[in-house]
Amino acid sequence: MRRLIFALILGTASLAHADDASLGRDIYKDFCASCHGRDLVNTGLAFDLRKFPQNDAARFEKSVLEGTAKGMPAWKSQLSAEDVKALWDYVKSGG
Ligand code: HEC
Repeated sequence: MRRLIFALILGTASLAHADDASLGRDIYKDFCASCHGRDLVNTGLAFDLRKFPQNDAARFEKSVLEGTAKGMPAWKSQLSAEDVKALWDYVKSGG
């Protein structure tokens, strides 16, 4: 918990352990839920992340960092590689 608070204060969550789905959940709430829906429950505005192929970490990383032509913003100026890894663990956890 303390680590999480520090991470939030720093505004980057970069102190995260790489396998921390709960940290990913917090990053998701701040950066992703507005379009992808609370707790991964699709709002109809964007891709349903519960249906993202679980064996394609490389595609996840690329889409999140670089965005997509169909409306997904690029996050590489705001999220670190560790943040994306935590998000991936969270997405794989199913919400
Ligand atoms: C401003 C709205 C918006 C926000 C915020 C947003 N997304 Fe998206 N995202 C989209 C849209 C729209 C799509 C569908 C576009 C497409 O299919 O390429 C999408 C698609 C995706 C995809 C699927 C891309 C693929 O390879 O098919 C992933 C993964 C994804 N978003 C993850 C995230 C994550 C993680 C965050 C938070 C860091 C996030 N998104 C924040 C709008 C958003």
